[in-house]
Amino acid sequence: MRKQIVAGNWKLNNDLAQTETLITSLKAQVKTSAAEVMIAPTATNLWHAYNSTKGSGIEVIAQNMHFAENGAYTGEISASMLKSVGINTVILGHSERREYFNETDETLAKKVDAALAKGMRVIFCFGEELADRKSGNEETVVGNQIKNALFHLKSADFQNIVLAYEPVWAIGTGETASPEQAQDMHAFIRKTLADAYGNDVADEVSILYGGSVKPANAEEIFSKPDVDGGLIGGASLNAEDFFAIVNAF
Ligand code: PGA
Repeated sequence: MRKQIVAGNWKLNNDLAQTETLITSLKAQVKTSAAEVMIAPTATNLWHAYNSTKGSGIEVIAQNMHFAENGAYTGEISASMLKSVGINTVILGHSERREYFNETDETLAKKVDAALAKGMRVIFCFGEELADRKSGNEETVVGNQIKNALFHLKSADFQNIVLAYEPVWAIGTGETASPEQAQDMHAFIRKTLADAYGNDVADEVSILYGGSVKPANAEEIFSKPDVDGGLIGGASLNAEDFFAIVNAF
């Protein structure tokens, strides 16, 4: 059975005090849930967040990491550094990283390898831009993003891969893919995986949807058979909204 996951991507929000305040509110909302619940605070607050969520059922994850183990990469953090502060899952390939920090399929393939080599779980993000969808190229774009960064992996590696389809035109815009658009793309992604690795692998990989998920639309999106959860940006900064989404399963 593949896992249901709701992960909050806090992006560049919340200093230490705000992180603690939000975690306190989140802990007050946690109920037993069918879904795994994760939050991704900014790097400086990971160690604090890890300690203050211990035993709460909320997993703290990272928003990014570098592929190098150590060395002359000013400003970067490595998989081992994340592990050393209790972090076992990392988001890679978010469209904001691709757009503003020039991350390419090639660098992402290296980051995925580095995370898996340390036994970490990867939430790998990808998604088409509006122009791709308008020209009917969304499946080609998404297929290539997945193949280029992931299809050098072995079948067993996919036990530690979660996919997150995030159409760029729906991130932070208030515009959501319709539940049908999400389901169609998720089914295409699963078929792409099945064609390369077989049904057993494809059926076990969780595929999350991201892009303006809110309490009002989460239930319908999550009801689709190939949608296994969500990567939540804006709505994850409010504890009630975030748990309304978690409880939409
Ligand atoms: P959003 O962000 O929910 O604010 O659209 C989603 C994401 O970027 O992961």
